[in-house]
This record gives sequence, C-alpha cells and structure tokens, in this order.
Amino acid sequence: MKKINKVLIPCAGLGTRFLPATKSLPKEMFPIIDTPTLQYIVDEANKSGIDEIGIIISQAKPMIQSHFTVNEELEQRLRALNKNEEADLIHSIAKMAKITFINQPEPKGLGHAILCAEEFINGEDFAIMLGDDLIMNFDDENNPVMKQLVSAYEKYDASVLGVQEVPLEDVSKYGIIKVNKEDGRYLEMSGMVEKPKKEVTPSRYAVLGRYVLKNEIFDYLRKVTPNKNGEIGLTEGIDLLLRDEKVYAYNFIGTRYDIGNKFGYVKATIDFALRRDDLKDKVKEYLKKIGY
Ligand code: G1P
Repeated sequence: MKKINKVLIPCAGLGTRFLPATKSLPKEMFPIIDTPTLQYIVDEANKSGIDEIGIIISQAKPMIQSHFTVNEELEQRLRALNKNEEADLIHSIAKMAKITFINQPEPKGLGHAILCAEEFINGEDFAIMLGDDLIMNFDDENNPVMKQLVSAYEKYDASVLGVQEVPLEDVSKYGIIKVNKEDGRYLEMSGMVEKPKKEVTPSRYAVLGRYVLKNEIFDYLRKVTPNKNGEIGLTEGIDLLLRDEKVYAYNFIGTRYDIGNKFGYVKATIDFALRRDDLKDKVKEYLKKIGY
C-alpha cells in the first residue's frame, strides 16, 4: 500500500488580520501558552506517521527556522544552570521531524506555494497542513485529524480533504465542497468553490486546512488561471482535479482553531489552559473571580 511520507506546511502568508503582532512575528509562531502553533502542527504530522516536513516560507522567517534547529549554546547554558529538563525539551524540538525549508519567492497564493514544493514532493502523494489551522482531537489524543485523513486516503487511494460544517454566515471565509454522495463521515465530492456567498454556497462543509492529495494535483495547479491579483488557488486546482478523478472529503473529529483570527486565538488559549494540569484550577478560579 502507498504511504504518505511527506507533508507541506505553507507559512508564507502576511498575517494581515493580526497586525501589529505579525509585523515581525509569523502568526505560525504565536504561542498557545508556551508552545508555538507550528510545533503543535508538526507534532500532529508526527503522530499521524508522516516523517518528512516541508515548511514553505516566503521571505526570511528566521524565527521559524531557528525554532526547529538545534541551539547548542542555549542548551549548554541551561545545563550549566542544572536545567536539564528544559535543555532536553528544546533539544527534542529539533529532532521532532526531518524538516526542509522551501522558498516561495512571491506571495502568489496557496496553489502557487504548493507548486514551489514540487521538487521536494518528488512524485509522491502528499499531505498539506495549513500553518494557522490548529486542530486538536481532545477526545482521542492518539488519533489526530491528519491520521484520520490518511486512513481515508488509504481506504480510497484518492485525494481526501478534511471538512466540518460551519454556520451559513461563515461559508464565505472558506473553501466549500459540493457533495455528490454521503456515507457517514465520508463525502464524495463533485466540486469545490473558494469563499462562496451564502446565497449560492453548494453546502456548509468547509475545508479546514488539512488535505491529502494525489501527486496529479501538480498538473492541475499548472492549469489554474490566476486571479486578478495573479494568485493561483489550491481550491481551483482541486476543482479541476475532481473533474477527472474521484476526490473525497472526510468530516473529521476534532476542534479547530483559526490562529490567524483574534477570537480563534483567544479560544485556543482558554481551551488549552483549561486542559493543563498546571493551569486549569488557577484559570477556573480566576474566571469565577471576575464573574464568569
Ligand atoms: C485557506 C483556503 C480555504 C480554506 C481555509 C481554511 O483560506 O484557501 O479554502 O478553507 O484556508 O483555513 P485563507 O484562510 O488562507 O483565506
């Protein structure tokens, strides 16, 4: 059986919804308590059995690179202070996965970012995880969303997108799928549109930043007509692909946070704090004290 060995994590966006923080700090590095969002996403890839990670960056984002690289000087300093646990912790981050940094020279859309990584993917089927979509399966920590999608890919030997239903008012923020056939959590797709108006949306199933794609997607991305800003959309590429071969969506189990959105970020911080043994009691007590 074919295996998914590689995942792309595009981190090339400008983060305009979160200025001024994103002026110098990539949104993928925003910490949820003490851990950058991107580290949770790399961990999800790890737990889903994917070993090789391609992080796509547009301009120099030294913070992302240095977070996933060994820092001997800091480790030595921590060890000299007898902070061995902390030294081991920062050492382990660099060893989480085999990470390659891929350059997207110009911000020309998600489809363009993926095209920049064609050489790295080298003919294989592959996964994509968007760097600001944090998804946790709190009910079953061993079954992260990407693992659920990889299982669906193995079942069909076809591309699979991770979806959940969103309120009608929100369809215009997402790639929305058109459903041909529904079989429990598995949805056979017949189309996909990017950010439709609620009056014309084909469904309320939104793609939430997780994809497993057949390698053929590259041929279709090359056929996409760029929009008026010169951007090549991934959604448009998938819509072309599914005219020639089956593409499925999987209604995944998990809670998704949009870290590039202020309210999404606050929700993630509260939920994560309330699940941590070192914080939950203090946070609950504090919320009660201020009247919640
Ligand atoms: C991107 C994709 C969209 C997807 C969304 C999920 O949009 O283009 O199809 O539904 O991510 O977060 P963006 O949020 O970059 O505008």
